[in-house]
Amino acid sequence: KLPKKVVIKEVGPRDGLQNEKVQIETSDKVSFINLLSDTGLSYIEVTSFVHPKWIPQLSDAFEVMQQIKRQQDVTYAALIPNMQGLERALQVGIDEANVFMSASESHNKNNINKTIVDTYPVLNEVVRHAKQQQLTVRGYVSTVLGCPYEGDVSPQQVLDVVHRLFDMGVDEISLGDTIGVGVPNEVERLLEVLLKSYKPHQFAMHFHDTRGTAIANIIKSMEMGITIFDSAVGGLGGCPYAKGASGNVATEDVLYTLNKMGITTNVSLERLLQAAQYIEHKINRTVNSKQMAILRGE
Ligand code: HMG
Ligand code: MG
Repeated sequence: KLPKKVVIKEVGPRDGLQNEKVQIETSDKVSFINLLSDTGLSYIEVTSFVHPKWIPQLSDAFEVMQQIKRQQDVTYAALIPNMQGLERALQVGIDEANVFMSASESHNKNNINKTIVDTYPVLNEVVRHAKQQQLTVRGYVSTVLGCPYEGDVSPQQVLDVVHRLFDMGVDEISLGDTIGVGVPNEVERLLEVLLKSYKPHQFAMHFHDTRGTAIANIIKSMEMGITIFDSAVGGLGGCPYAKGASGNVATEDVLYTLNKMGITTNVSLERLLQAAQYIEHKINRTVNSKQMAILRGE
């Protein structure tokens, strides 16, 4: 029933750092990403080409992308909100363009300053241009299990956005529990609806672990056929435009669980913990993962 192999998509350098208060030096971000490139990960979301005033921490997107050592078997992706972001990204080169929007109107408005309907043409143009440049495109749908402003979000609301993004030609959709409110039976209910129209391999799950439900939700997703999961080293992360959005599920905690369950990821837990230790030192606070707490002797 469970998959033999899953793909971990590391979002620590982007989702992880975007919410950190201490401004991290560009060269430290580069070293952090280079450490991640040596763990066996096949996918790293490096940064985002959003408006620098909206996310000051990632205003060095161009320099970071330019300075990292790229490995051939790693996909280096970046978050892209609009054509201006795509143009900045294309100047330095990315492997995959990640567009994003929300299933709920008020989070969409707070996060990207547009209504859902007005967002579609913006993303459509980005997807079209990215495809012309032979990039693959990932689409994020946020607030799929709940919105910080509106509360419940129905599977139908998510399905509507998913339809539109796949119609534009995105290659994969990552479903975000932005504020970490979901529980396994809600994951099941959502995926049951989406999998009537689409195949499991078209989706990734992106769980924030605000309430400690992320690993349970990952297991439920695997039972439903999903084999791609987003996580952030050190459990870093959160969206500054979603109150209560704390860290992503920690990559090292996901790895511990999958390893012991006999599910292959090709990622070295030992090396990943080295990257976690490195960034913990730079952000000047202890990170939120069980594996790191154990390592610190707590
Ligand atoms: P806006 O102010 O509506 O943009 O922001 P605009 O198109 O009206 O342009 C205003 C000014 O911004 C113009 O400059 C543009 O040139 C400039 P001016 O003419 O006034 O001098 N501008 C830009 N500059 C640089 N790069 C750009 C860019 N775009 C416009 N790309 C916008 C709209 C989308 C840009 C803004 O709202 C924004 O950047 N939002 C990003 C917020 C964000 O990054 N949130 C976190 C990521 S999402 C997330 O974390 C969720 C996820 O993890 C999944 C989950 O957990 O659910 C993915
Ligand atoms: Mg996120």
